[in-house]
Amino acid sequence: MDTNTLSHNLIMTGQACFTPNYQPQGIVLERGLGAQVWDLEGRAYIDFGAGIAVSALGHQDPDLIAALQAQLTKIWHTSNLYYTEPAIRLAAELVQTSFAERVFFCNSGAEANEAAIKLARRYASEHLAPEQRQIVTFLGGFHGRTLATVTATAQPKYHSGFEPLPGGFRYCAFNDFAAAERAIDGQACAVLVEPIQGEGGIVPAQPGFLQHLRECCDRVGALLMVDEIQSGMGRTGRLFAHEWESGLTPDVMTLAKGLGGGMPIGAMLVGSKAAEILKLGSHGSTFGGNPLACAVARAVLRKVNDPHMLQHIRYQGEQLRLALESINAELGVFQTIRGQGLMLGAQLAKTYHGQIARLLEYCRHQGVLVLQAGTDVVRLVPPLTINSSELTMGIERLDQALRVFAVETR
Ligand SMILES: Cc1ncc(COP(=O)(O)O)c(C=O)c1O
Repeated sequence: MDTNTLSHNLIMTGQACFTPNYQPQGIVLERGLGAQVWDLEGRAYIDFGAGIAVSALGHQDPDLIAALQAQLTKIWHTSNLYYTEPAIRLAAELVQTSFAERVFFCNSGAEANEAAIKLARRYASEHLAPEQRQIVTFLGGFHGRTLATVTATAQPKYHSGFEPLPGGFRYCAFNDFAAAERAIDGQACAVLVEPIQGEGGIVPAQPGFLQHLRECCDRVGALLMVDEIQSGMGRTGRLFAHEWESGLTPDVMTLAKGLGGGMPIGAMLVGSKAAEILKLGSHGSTFGGNPLACAVARAVLRKVNDPHMLQHIRYQGEQLRLALESINAELGVFQTIRGQGLMLGAQLAKTYHGQIARLLEYCRHQGVLVLQAGTDVVRLVPPLTINSSELTMGIERLDQALRVFAVETR
């Protein structure tokens, strides 16, 4: 990179001042429009990452801007000592569009899962036997970085050096029906599961697995809690990914990421069984239900929960999958392509394992931003609103990057 640029100087400052827990790619993003973003040097990129599946309606969606602007000149913050209209209306709309009866708002995915974990323990303390306090989660899953949610995340690499971790979590193999039956025993009070494991490598629950968990939970009185922080809000072509499993009703669902379309917001939605558990004073968040975030989230929900939009997501997801399959038929760089809607993962073939960082860099040089998931999976989670010309442009650039990668990595 040219060392005299503003980007270079900013990046050097960032590297000196941020705690070193991130390693951003060497560009400074300045603005976005639709499914494109531009860096400070004016270079354009097709955004197949959407800020890790957050910018559901792309960048600068006019309805989100209007919703934010309308709220900006009213009130920004009140705390939960007072009611505000955006939070009330958003909660009511989430209740109307899901199995839930009540909603708790917070600011991130980890906080939503933290709330779910606390709710499960309170539920157990009121309704279950004293030995029934274990929360079952799945190998390869991801639930956040707070101490409780990182413990729920059954991946040792996230735990290392943070011990002692909170107790009361039990890990089970994902998609293993028999193991789940054994794990959800008389000591389990809840199960926390992603319908499609996102960070873990875009690994969908097998058909019937969530229903099986529902039955195991019912046998012992445990809560079924679905983490839809990444898979929810239309990402898979249904409003919530668990809806692909017909007739399934969870007890709790957590949302964040796409819910705010770029505004920080998380939510825990609770069905009838546990709706009354979080009693006065038992949990809270100063910023939770922030009117700016809720006003924008209402617009996101309205736009995503539209049959045409959900159809668009399924259609564009299919186009992207077909394009990946056709590129792969020629180059053979992937061993599997999986996922649903616009939540797709392409696992690199064995010869390319360990090389994904290079691929991400080639993609960026070609003008397309993609993400990593798991160790060797390319994750594609573009804005749900991506149009056909943006999609085609992104695919062409990805194709170019993969060609260079295949030749240079051999
Ligand atoms: C399924 C899932 N749960 C929880 C989280 C944590 O969300 P946040 O980073 O907003 O705390 C993530 C983030 O990647 C996620 O994908």
